[in-house]
Amino acid sequence: MNELSPLQIERLKYQPKLPTSLKQGINKLEMVEGVATESISDKEKIQELFKNTYGKNLVTFSSVENEIASEVKNVGVILSGGQAPGGHNVIAGLYDALKQANYKNKLYGFLGGPAGIIDGKYIEFTDSFIDEYRNTGGFDIIGSGRTKLETQEQFEKSLEICKKLELSAVVIIGGDDSNTNAALLAEWFVENNTGIQVIGCPKTIDGDLKNDQIEISFGFDTATKTYAELIGNIQRDANSAKKYWHFIKIMGRSASHVGLEAALQTQPNITLISEEVESKKMSLDEIINSMADIIAKRAEVGKNFGIAIIPEGLIEFIPEMKLMIANLNDLMGELEQDTNFNNATSAHEKFEIVENRLQGKNSKIFKSLPALIKSQLLMDRDPHGNVQVSRIETEKLLIEMIKTRLEEMKSQGQYVGKFSELAHFFGYEGRCAFPSNFDADYCYSLGFNAFALIKFGLTGYLSSIKNLTSPADKWVAGGTPLTMMMNMEKRHGEMKPVIQKALVKLDGPVFKKLEANREDWAVNDRYKFPGAIQYFGPSSVCDITTVTLQLEQGKTLVNV
Ligand code: FBP
Repeated sequence: MNELSPLQIERLKYQPKLPTSLKQGINKLEMVEGVATESISDKEKIQELFKNTYGKNLVTFSSVENEIASEVKNVGVILSGGQAPGGHNVIAGLYDALKQANYKNKLYGFLGGPAGIIDGKYIEFTDSFIDEYRNTGGFDIIGSGRTKLETQEQFEKSLEICKKLELSAVVIIGGDDSNTNAALLAEWFVENNTGIQVIGCPKTIDGDLKNDQIEISFGFDTATKTYAELIGNIQRDANSAKKYWHFIKIMGRSASHVGLEAALQTQPNITLISEEVESKKMSLDEIINSMADIIAKRAEVGKNFGIAIIPEGLIEFIPEMKLMIANLNDLMGELEQDTNFNNATSAHEKFEIVENRLQGKNSKIFKSLPALIKSQLLMDRDPHGNVQVSRIETEKLLIEMIKTRLEEMKSQGQYVGKFSELAHFFGYEGRCAFPSNFDADYCYSLGFNAFALIKFGLTGYLSSIKNLTSPADKWVAGGTPLTMMMNMEKRHGEMKPVIQKALVKLDGPVFKKLEANREDWAVNDRYKFPGAIQYFGPSSVCDITTVTLQLEQGKTLVNV
């Protein structure tokens, strides 16, 4: 074991809070069935694809007086996709519930993500092993991966391993795509009479796996608090030195939830929201002009500094760029086999080939981009064939274009300032932070509750803990059928059943809060400084949830 930091030593002792229903013990639970469910749309098609797992009831758990013994149930767990703070606590909660139910139960961890169950790579958890990871960030306990678990062959191989380990259930901790695959696996296991259950847990810092039943994915709380701390620190620096404009790109994939939450916690001068850009059909030039106008306005009153927040997925939401990227994604597929492209010795030669083969307007747009961005757009695609937005330095693209715009404005007497810029990207800094108390408690509860769903024989369910803006003892534990969150969407040219991704709602209270304040924040310095996540101290500081969650649940904002 590595040497531990003082905080690590203290956090290992932290006992996560559970909802009252679960606190009485895993063998003192009863399951209360709620209403039958339907998918959010495309009902007939989803029902046809999930004949055995469609339409199941919502469930909740409550505690009972008498202990009910549990039969032996071994479980395998998988961490899937990008890291999110609290993953280790989901496993700890699952382990504790499983051992509490029956000490003979075994928990196996598949190594390196979904590939672990296909390749039969796993470890068996023990008390001492789990204890080293309680309340820590990261997914290093068993590693994660992005292999998509979706083919017949992969399902058959997974079944072989499950049989070998005598598993009753598999728990998949992942985002919308991983839980879509969990639903497919659950259906396949039932159809093939394997008796193996599949339960999902909602993970992703992006905060885009949420709906009427799932209030928030785990990791969003800690990651946004970490970014907000960093933004607050930079705001203090900017306000002290008064000489730099900081352009900060914030991770979060397509949705802008992460950037929006961090902005509400810190009140920077500019916050771009991808969903708004798309809905207003804004061009890149319009975005640049609006940002340059704010920079010029501040310069008029001698403020040659400021903070701009840019969501990671912005580039894909600018309609003209979206079309160009879609054209480029298809073209990159064709160019994989193209000898001219593969033998090109310089980046410029590659750019030329691409420019000649992109369609008219798309070619013009690609041509107009700085070489750095062109190269990044040509980098490897992700396993789904998409451009990797986290690797495109949108913040630098904006800076370059703003510089040109400000020079133009200067020559026309519309800008009097001095523009010195710094670019940042906050993403990986937040994904493995020590989970906040909220995420430590939420994740432990999600894991513990996942075993309750297994104990009651359910499959194709997502572990769900609700009422999250209340204290943990008032949280409501239960399960949501995965098919309930599904609709049909086009993927790789084919209609597929998928869990719907939640984007920022422009008519929702969270965006409205930004909209109502952003003019004021642009010129006047209303910076807020949330500081570092606090793990010990008054509950008013240590246990607060995100602004997003509070506003979405119609709460009066606490400490905001
Ligand atoms: P998930 O959907 O897997 O939770 O992704 C989280 C995320 O951090 C995104 O915000 C980001 O775009 C992506 O992962 C980066 O991927 P990678 O970890 O492969 O660099």
